[in-house]
Amino acid sequence: MIAQWKANLFKSPWLNLLQRYYKTQQSEQAEKFPDWVAYEPNLIPPLELMDLEGINTLEEWFRWAEEWSMLLRVYGCITRTSRILEIGCGLGRIAFPLRYILSSQGDYDGFEICQEKVAFLERTFHQAHPNFRFIWANIHNTFYNPAGQIQAKDYHFPYQDNCFDLVYAASVFTHMLPEAAANYFQETARVLKPNGRAVFSFFLLDNYRRGQPRPLGFARTGFNFDHTYGSYGDEFAIAEPNNPEQMTAYKLSLIEDFTTKAGLHLAQLPVPGIWSGSTPTWVAAQDLVILQKPSS
Ligand SMILES: C[S@@+](CC[C@H](N)C(=O)[O-])C[C@H]1O[C@@H](n2cnc3c(N)ncnc32)[C@H](O)[C@@H]1O
Repeated sequence: MIAQWKANLFKSPWLNLLQRYYKTQQSEQAEKFPDWVAYEPNLIPPLELMDLEGINTLEEWFRWAEEWSMLLRVYGCITRTSRILEIGCGLGRIAFPLRYILSSQGDYDGFEICQEKVAFLERTFHQAHPNFRFIWANIHNTFYNPAGQIQAKDYHFPYQDNCFDLVYAASVFTHMLPEAAANYFQETARVLKPNGRAVFSFFLLDNYRRGQPRPLGFARTGFNFDHTYGSYGDEFAIAEPNNPEQMTAYKLSLIEDFTTKAGLHLAQLPVPGIWSGSTPTWVAAQDLVILQKPSS
């Protein structure tokens, strides 16, 4: 009896009409807001995880995210269908605004050395946005992953040759040693498409002045690049001798050397950041190096 009643209900012309009405409403909304993305608070990590990244105010999450979304549009030339690789994607802070820049025809891949960050991204971000993929690489870093088994200088990016329009790294080379950075430049050149770009942030020693007052959070001793490391002389410096990858800084000439050896070139002069307190103009927090792969 009940089964018969249900079968009749689903055959009802009223129900049909109602379903058609809802379908029209949905497609009208989809036309009006084709790439509308919700706030998605579950993509914002819990505070304990943010703390691993040194983020202790929610504003810092959004500020950095928006800063990088602008930098990637202006210097990385991304479009809605770009294929993008992020080196050291952390907790997805920059992937967060890329949700509303990339369409479903665009693609984002990120790799990261802290397992708990990638676990968070896989269970939240990737579930909601399958075209955003995250990989854990168990790479050793004295600050972020002291138990890591792979040396960054030997790491092979797990992607095919010539497949990305843009590779970027936001405050990652600022935690890496030169041999590892040289390898990452080689790998970047390999995975970039011809004409593809790379946007990397650095603390450039060219802008560092010992004793110069620095603004904002950069006024701390953690940004005093006063220690040499290995045989790099004044081309490379660290802030904390007991933990070399806690904070690192490079001379542009060393970066140019990695660039040339990797077969890339500087797309323009480096863009100064505010961090050093020594440049009259600045755009972002850190200095930016923008690279390009030749067309063939
Ligand atoms: C300051 S955090 C920035 C995270 C993220 N890029 C962002 O902007 O929110 C630096 C990140 O680089 C990662 N990292 C450090 N060394 C790395 C390496 N050799 N390869 C990839 N990621 C690395 C760290 O685990 C950390 O998540």
